[in-house]
Amino acid sequence: MTSWEAVYATKDAAERSWTETGPSHSLPWVLEDSPQLSRSIVDIGGGASRLADSLVARGFTNVTVLDLSPSALEEVRGRLGDAVQLVVANVLEWDPPQPVDLWHDRAVFHFFVEPEEQLRYVDRVTRAVREGGTFVLATFAPNGPEQCSGLPVTRWSAAELEDRFSQGFQLLQSEEHLHVTPWGANQPFTWVRFRRFQ
Ligand SMILES: C[S@@+](CC[C@H](N)C(=O)[O-])C[C@H]1O[C@@H](n2cnc3c(N)ncnc32)[C@H](O)[C@@H]1O
Repeated sequence: MTSWEAVYATKDAAERSWTETGPSHSLPWVLEDSPQLSRSIVDIGGGASRLADSLVARGFTNVTVLDLSPSALEEVRGRLGDAVQLVVANVLEWDPPQPVDLWHDRAVFHFFVEPEEQLRYVDRVTRAVREGGTFVLATFAPNGPEQCSGLPVTRWSAAELEDRFSQGFQLLQSEEHLHVTPWGANQPFTWVRFRRFQ
């Protein structure tokens, strides 16, 4: 069992620091580019997040949630049934069957602290997102926590993320956003929205 699976199997939503009441920041950023309901959207390390619920409720028909944890995805299945595709996988080893229109990652990339892992992630996302497609990414900000769920993280500024993904992506938008955990702790995040080069 991975440590992530243990978290989802033993803690409920209110005991997980990343839980939001709704995808207040993810949703507008995901909807920003195109409201086309058939576009393919993948939530990387989506866990039990309600982003997928919000997209299905708006009529999106090609939504995938990928996560290491089967228990997290079972929570999603319990809410949404077959309305979304669920993939148990390590993002560093996953290739989508077709290029995706939009790749969303809230609080996953920052767990890759080794440059080699970061480069593998860069390679995966660059190959997975179609030319002209969108990549929405949220990581802990430079003044954010140094750990999450007992694991070390890398904290990123928008300029650092722009540099890290510069071979495949152009930065369109960035913002710092404060996430408040279910028990009231502040967690500053850096949000970026990228366009895959044509
Ligand atoms: C901090 S949680 C964020 C969950 C979700 N994105 C959200 O905003 O609520 C990190 C998630 O990433 C998943 N995860 C961690 N490493 C992963 C990997 N290498 N591949 C896929 N998922 C991963 C964990 O299982 C967990 O669900």
